[in-house]
Amino acid sequence: MAVNILMVCLGNICRSPLAEGILQSKLPKEKFIVDSAGTGDWHAGQQPDKRSIATAKNRGLDITHQRARQIKVSDFEKFDYIYVMDTSNYNNVAKLAPNNITKAKISLMMDALYPEQGTEVPDPYFGGNDGFEKVYDMLDEACTIVANNLLKKH
Ligand code: 4NP
Repeated sequence: MAVNILMVCLGNICRSPLAEGILQSKLPKEKFIVDSAGTGDWHAGQQPDKRSIATAKNRGLDITHQRARQIKVSDFEKFDYIYVMDTSNYNNVAKLAPNNITKAKISLMMDALYPEQGTEVPDPYFGGNDGFEKVYDMLDEACTIVANNLLKKH
């Protein structure tokens, strides 16, 4: 059976679309399904931010097929692992979790690289292109660890 992984940020147009594309590129598609969602619904139905698309393209990743959506309660059943980008995302997602078992599926993305440090993937939405490059580098490093752990475990 496939392992389902959900990447979550606020708008689902900047950080989590990159996280989705990066992690999926490091895992075999037959076994691992990676998706992303936002805690907010303002951008539902939209393509990722142009700057995320461009940053991904520079690194050889096409994320143009992605469309933003808001996280929903049924995601807690469907997904085995839920990675959030920052503490605010964590709190918002944890509030929606139906119970402690589903709540335990949530972890901070950068904890994969720096356990229990509470490191956040900064929201690049209101900044320049360099913010997107930095976000990509952070996610790429963390996703390498997550992918290796998943491949060992499943
Ligand atoms: P994201 O970035 O959470 O990484 O997708 C944001 C995108 C949009 C907004 C905030 C953050 N917004 O306020 O519309």
